[in-house]
Amino acid sequence: RRALQTIGRVTLITIVTTGGTFYYITQKDRHPGSQLPHDPSKKNIVVVGSGWGSTAFLKSLDTAEYNVTVISPRNFFLFTPLLPSVAVGTLASKSILQPIRYMTRHKERKITVIEAQAKSVDPIAKTITFADESEVQGEVSSTTIPFDYLVYAVGAETQTFGIPGVKEHACFMKEIQDAERFKRRFMDCVESAGFPGQREEEIERLLHMAVVGGGPTGIEVSGELHDFLEDDLKAWYPELSNKIKITLIEALPSVLPMFSRELIDYTVSTFKESKIDILTGTMVKEIKDKSVVLQMPDKSIKEVPVGLVVWAGGNKARDVSVDLMSRLSDAQKNKRGITVDDHLRMAGTDGTIFALGDCTSSQYAPTAQVASQQGAYLARMFRQFAKRDALLEQVSAAKQEGTNTESLEKQLKKAENLRPFHYSHQGSLAYIGSEKAIADLEFFHHKFASGGVATFLFWRSAYLSTLFSMRNRVLVATDWLKVKLFGRDLVRD
Ligand code: FAD
Ligand code: NAI
Repeated sequence: RRALQTIGRVTLITIVTTGGTFYYITQKDRHPGSQLPHDPSKKNIVVVGSGWGSTAFLKSLDTAEYNVTVISPRNFFLFTPLLPSVAVGTLASKSILQPIRYMTRHKERKITVIEAQAKSVDPIAKTITFADESEVQGEVSSTTIPFDYLVYAVGAETQTFGIPGVKEHACFMKEIQDAERFKRRFMDCVESAGFPGQREEEIERLLHMAVVGGGPTGIEVSGELHDFLEDDLKAWYPELSNKIKITLIEALPSVLPMFSRELIDYTVSTFKESKIDILTGTMVKEIKDKSVVLQMPDKSIKEVPVGLVVWAGGNKARDVSVDLMSRLSDAQKNKRGITVDDHLRMAGTDGTIFALGDCTSSQYAPTAQVASQQGAYLARMFRQFAKRDALLEQVSAAKQEGTNTESLEKQLKKAENLRPFHYSHQGSLAYIGSEKAIADLEFFHHKFASGGVATFLFWRSAYLSTLFSMRNRVLVATDWLKVKLFGRDLVRD
């Protein structure tokens, strides 16, 4: 009895302490303190974008040394790796979003956040023009401001290669609205297929989901769609679920070229078991209202009826980046994105414009891993710039006073020695459905490939721990639990 009482007391103390700590952390997060105002003697950094690159930069930046302004058309950060889970209702949209002010309000010096779209950058005059293009606008909705430094991380948009009908008829999978639109249209297809008197061929068309692009986005969307079908639709739409068909279309001879052969084969065999058709060597030539036009491996043309098309065809530079590159056309010849040097300085500029992430074209893949490492690297560089600038002032003051500058000059030389960006690859991970994931990892220079249920658990824990905040972690974990208990939400909102 005494032992039970002790266990009871220990348990109670643990619950109260954990709960108290958790409450303290969340409340501290919720109520940020006062911040230093902008200081006219400090340099101004304008950060463009609120994605992986920008937020990693802002998280690590020492704002005591700079006045910072963030410009982005969305006032939140989107955790893209879990976007396909939102598309099928495994996760709620809000669970993978984090308002950007939740971070900027915790910095030492005030950061100005402006919800606006950058329209153009003048790299010579060092100004940026932006506009509020949201639904509601005030009397002033467009302006131009100067910058001392520009951190440019606007990401990329979906590449359509100008293929007719893609923009009009397909769903993309890049922004939160894309996932929400997909869910709405998918449920609409299912409900319309159940309309009384629907012809059998029309039911088959409505329930045929085509995913274009065998990169990781297309693979993850197909896998999540399959889970939705197996776990939920079979129970709630028994008369229709066996007619739902998923086809993944890829122009290249293989899917997932960035993964090892072993994991590609594992994905293909898992998809086969999951009855997801993979058409490789097949190019989408046109998307119509109710069909996709395919060029088959033997070059024949085939028109296939579809209810919904998801387009995951890769990245292309945004218009604002194309415009910026055109202003420096001698140094910016790569159409795929901005050329930077190994310190992330935009080629052709005086070293005050930095570009990172998906808007650049470099030896690195356009991934969150690269963008966030670049953001953190750049924040370290700015710390060094501040040190260098302070030393420069001290050296010039010492020279005026006629004192010895030898030691200061030594420190200055060190501060001027900037290390280039070095990318450390942590591995590639992707979810392939049926509670299986694939991972190409590197431990101590040894490559390690794994696929299956254990990798799925690793995938979940890896992403749970990388989520932006405690708030996001709690929301995502709760969503996973809710889906386990009650299934996915079928509501078409
Ligand atoms: P983004 O994160 O796209 O941010 C760009 C920011 O710029 C956004 O805030 C945007 O609103 C803003 N912006 C756009 N236009 C303007 C403008 N005109 N003016 C001002 N701001 C503007 N990578 C991985 O490493 N692992 C994964 O598991 C993974 N999964 C993914 C899943 C999906 C579905 C997708 C689409 C991508 C995934 N990626 C993953 C890739 C990863 O999301 C990108 O590489 C990453 O987002 C790039 O970061 P970024 O900061 O360059 O751009
Ligand atoms: P992607 O560029 O990796 O793949 C696009 C695919 O679409 C290509 O294989 C291309 O051949 C195919 N395609 C293009 N046009 C086509 C057509 N007309 N017909 C048929 N196929 C066509 O693009 P994705 O998957 O959007 O990924 C973009 C970036 O984001 C990549 O760098 C990727 O690594 C990263 N990412 C990483 C994830 C992860 O690590 N889990 C998840 C999602 C994206």
